[in-house]
Amino acid sequence: MKKALKLLGLAVGLLLLTGLGFVLYVNLRGIPSYAAPKPSVAPVAATPEQLAQGEKLVLAACADCHLDRSTNTLAGQRLRDVPPEFGQLYSANITRDEQHGIGRWTYQELVGLLRTGIGRDGRYRIIMPSFVHMSDDDVRSIVAFLRSNHPLVRPQATPSHPQEPSLLAKVLVNTVMKPTPLPAEPVVAPPPTDAVAYGRYLVVGRYKCYDCHSKDFKTNNHLEPEKSAGYLGGGNRLMNQQGQPVVARNITADAETGLGDWTEPQFAQALRFGQSPNGPLHYPMPKYSRLTDEEVHALYAYLNSVPALRNATHEDGAATAAR
Ligand code: HEC
Ligand code: HEC
Repeated sequence: MKKALKLLGLAVGLLLLTGLGFVLYVNLRGIPSYAAPKPSVAPVAATPEQLAQGEKLVLAACADCHLDRSTNTLAGQRLRDVPPEFGQLYSANITRDEQHGIGRWTYQELVGLLRTGIGRDGRYRIIMPSFVHMSDDDVRSIVAFLRSNHPLVRPQATPSHPQEPSLLAKVLVNTVMKPTPLPAEPVVAPPPTDAVAYGRYLVVGRYKCYDCHSKDFKTNNHLEPEKSAGYLGGGNRLMNQQGQPVVARNITADAETGLGDWTEPQFAQALRFGQSPNGPLHYPMPKYSRLTDEEVHALYAYLNSVPALRNATHEDGAATAAR
């Protein structure tokens, strides 16, 4: 008996030591690096339609993080909406500046980063979402826009701030948060005429609604988004720029706690203008002011087709109380 206890003690001790060793290692290693991705895409000359699409997508999916309000360019900012337990994180300068921005990144390097989250130097860019299921056309439009003469990306000599990740953030990026692989096949969006399929594309590929609207960033599955815990059922605790919690809402079709009782015009109003039947919507819910009717219709059709989850968030309580 005594011997068994001793052995158990030894085993626990060893386990603790291994754990401590891992944490020390992770703390020293910091943000990991990988082989820089080399996508096989050829740069294409940007058409006016591509630039317009790129502008629309960047305003919807990038500007909230990368906008520097003092210059009104994408020169980067401190991300005040990252929970303090992750440390202090900063978005990068992605203007065309050759020294401080991405002026020297090649077309392929930009595509590689958008797809995988790995930079040209191999360093993993944390917090920056990777767009695994975005269509090749949409990715090209974004890259075309970043390399254009648009005022948002005019060169700004603002150095990107180095990241100051906490130990927890370092542990997460060395364990559960990983870069995504380059797609093995061309990625093509389904036609808008197939509303449900196109809507799925918008939710998982183009706008990544599921990333914020599922249970928790830590349990999202970027390769198979539908396998994310609580897919689209809300509950993910985000923060606004004052550091106050804002919980992402249930956008499945549950009639009481989701969007099941919403009409399509109400849904359009919420997405384009941030006005939900429950009142104004706040940051970090993006304002999708340039969504086309086709996109709204497809999103609505798809969200009504996914398994409805019953998951009340605080506005449901408020709405019930007001009834
Ligand atoms: C949630 C916030 C967030 C969003 C949304 C976001 N980014 Fe980023 N991005 C970051 C952060 C943070 C970094 C820097 C990461 C680092 O240095 O570790 C970054 C880095 C980059 C870089 C690399 C720059 C460099 O010098 O390292 C590029 C290019 C980039 N982002 C482009 C985009 C584009 C294009 C979009 C939209 C499709 C986008 N980002 C959306 C947060 C974001
Ligand atoms: C960056 C994170 C983020 C992304 C991306 C995002 N949302 Fe949201 N969304 C939120 C948050 C947070 C709220 C709650 C805002 C509040 O409480 O004011 C919200 C609220 C909503 C609401 C209001 C629901 C209600 O019950 O009032 C709808 C509808 C919605 N989002 C749909 C979408 C769709 C569709 C997409 C993709 C096209 C999307 N969201 C992308 C964070 C996000």
